[in-house]
Amino acid sequence: MVRVLGIETSCDETAIGIVEDGVRIRSNIVASSQDFHKPYGGVIPEIAARVHVEVIWRVLEESLAQASCQLSDIDAIAVTQGPGLPGALLIGVAFAKGLAMMLDRPLIGVDHLAAHLHAGRMTDPTLAPPFIGLVVSGGHSLLCVAHGEQRFEMLGETKDDAVGEAFDKVARLLGLGYPGGPVIDRLSDEGNRTGVALPRHATKEGFDFSFSGLKTAVYQTVQKLTAEVAEGYRLKAEVDRTLQPLALGLQRRQIADVAASFQEAAVDVLLTKTLRACQKTGIKQIVIGGGVASNRRLRQRLTEEGHAKGIRVVVPPLALCVDNGAMVAGLGCELLAKGRTQPLSMNIDPHLHLNA
Ligand code: KG4
Ligand code: ZN
Repeated sequence: MVRVLGIETSCDETAIGIVEDGVRIRSNIVASSQDFHKPYGGVIPEIAARVHVEVIWRVLEESLAQASCQLSDIDAIAVTQGPGLPGALLIGVAFAKGLAMMLDRPLIGVDHLAAHLHAGRMTDPTLAPPFIGLVVSGGHSLLCVAHGEQRFEMLGETKDDAVGEAFDKVARLLGLGYPGGPVIDRLSDEGNRTGVALPRHATKEGFDFSFSGLKTAVYQTVQKLTAEVAEGYRLKAEVDRTLQPLALGLQRRQIADVAASFQEAAVDVLLTKTLRACQKTGIKQIVIGGGVASNRRLRQRLTEEGHAKGIRVVVPPLALCVDNGAMVAGLGCELLAKGRTQPLSMNIDPHLHLNA
């Protein structure tokens, strides 16, 4: 039995998981600095790095306790090497090196995006490559063919905002706070998905994504609705100037309609491209990963519409979709088996990109 400890600090989550033989998750502890970033409406790299330093040891202790094991029971240390925020990555990698040196165990550098896709294989160990991978998070929107743990063929990426970023910005516009994805997901239940007409430019052709047009259309819609509500130049000018929240004065019902319509448009784009990738490559397996893969509408529609086309859709549980240490440990196990360990001189690689 091989027991790998996986460390993830690429963004605002300090996460450590312990996984046996690549699939048995013994622990998966995640501490988030999200609350500290809330007032700024987005992740502040400096704050994220400082919080990693403060909490990483406690996260390790909790992870060991949950797994009922000790540091000496760990066979290898895996850590996210990139992509991510340089300061945040440095904390995890330095910590991993310290553990590897202290315990005299191998060190394994893991690509965060590959780990998100590996979560699909941990969810369904019978899944074998090739499969279509869709990674959607606050920092990434990409579509690829996964030929193996470390072999990817990039099909498309976002040309502007990552989809999670678009969720966060739209939520901010609507005065819903940060992070926006979960709130829009919940509020959409109350709204009408066809309540507001929004463009889906990016669905037209190819595999690249673009969410800035959709975001601007939401902005214009909200501006129009707000102006109607304001009925007075002074209030409108005030709203235009501050932009925060733009949706000032709108009824909850109207905000829910905008949220639901935006979510539906974003899901349409993701779904169209992913199913197109299956059609073009002839590959009938899909794995989704990343924070936005927690979105219930995306999970539901991808599963239903994929199955209707005879496609196997692997949707990891929420704990494996968000940034977590178990996915890093799981992929670390596979790399260890292939002898792909790193020297203690290993460095962070903030621009690591699925080796593509
Ligand atoms: O993968 P992740 O935890 O961190 C990185 O960005 O790497 O993803 C965070 C992103 C945020 O933009 C957040 O708004 C979005 O994932 N998100 C969601 C949902 N839950 C989180 N977006 C849509 N629906 C959700 N349920
Ligand atoms: Zn991520």
